[in-house]
Amino acid sequence: MIRSVLRGTGAALPRRVLSNEELAKQVDTSDEWIRERTGITQRYVAGEGETTGTLATDAARAALQDAYLTIADIDLIVLATATPDQTFPATATLVQEQLGGRGFPAFDVAAVCSGFLYAMATADAMLRTGMARTALVIGAETFSRILDWEDRATCVLFGDGAGAFVLSAEEIADESGPGILASRLHAEGAHSQLLYVDGGPSTTGTVGKLRMKGREVFRHAVVNLAEVLNEVLAEAGKTAEDIDWIVPHQANLRILDATARKLGMPFEKMIVTVDRHANTSAASVPLAFDVAKRDGRIKRGDLVLLEAMGGGFTWGASLLRV
Ligand code: ACO
Repeated sequence: MIRSVLRGTGAALPRRVLSNEELAKQVDTSDEWIRERTGITQRYVAGEGETTGTLATDAARAALQDAYLTIADIDLIVLATATPDQTFPATATLVQEQLGGRGFPAFDVAAVCSGFLYAMATADAMLRTGMARTALVIGAETFSRILDWEDRATCVLFGDGAGAFVLSAEEIADESGPGILASRLHAEGAHSQLLYVDGGPSTTGTVGKLRMKGREVFRHAVVNLAEVLNEVLAEAGKTAEDIDWIVPHQANLRILDATARKLGMPFEKMIVTVDRHANTSAASVPLAFDVAKRDGRIKRGDLVLLEAMGGGFTWGASLLRV
């Protein structure tokens, strides 16, 4: 059978770190409130010259290096973002140009915080059906540029960054071999007013700012994530005990804790970076995965669950044998 196999990962973060203490000087909040409610202690914020496109390009370069490949080996780029450099062209095409690629398809996917899961499932389908052989799948965001920095309920939660995977179509002889085993995606547009940006090219003609009803998002997130994780496990014929690691979307420590408890999984199996990165939307899953792979926790042969939920709502999960 043909599977999409993970060949390498990479990540990129802006230069500037913004701590809770610094943030508390700009807006009426405190380190204690942010830590207690979210687990976040700091976030990275893009500065001059840093954009979604530059972060994505840096993460993609690191992933190519990790895979011992070059842009000449790539024939597809799928980039998940809700904060593109421009309304168009797709940021994926800017990354292609920056890396020196030509001709092959490159496009963006918009599913906000679950964008990377959507991008990965899209690339996986294209790889398995022979439309491409080796793909760069990227999640990259600069949410700092769509935050209302006077709204303490939202501006403390998010950060900027990018993460990238290189996936290759490979013939796998044995069921227990590497690759993406199953993916599930969902959307429920009825909840679009719980988490959205109040602008856009076709409505206000402005970029807009992020708006969120945090409590309701929290409630839906725990239910939806537990459901989709069980779906993807069932599809692959696995149980929670088979899982070595969960790489969740890094929204909030309490969502991670509640999700682990709902699944009956030890919290120690969760990769956590929300404390340092905050919520980087589509970048959070590949960023966290890259951290855990580089520090030696995620190893070859491990079975890893990836999951995310975001505005829309959209949510999804994938099961990957490394
Ligand atoms: N600092 C200090 N006080 C604050 C802050 C802040 N940064 N933000 C809100 N408050 C105050 C509120 O004004 C309110 O005060 P009041 O009681 O006097 O009115 C009080 O804290 C409680 O506010 P709530 O919004 O009810 O606080 P809650 O316990 O629900 O925590 C939070 C808020 C952390 C946003 C929580 O609802 C949450 O985690 N929701 C999930 C949202 C999320 O993660 N979204 C990310 C995108 S979606 C995703 O990725 C899954």
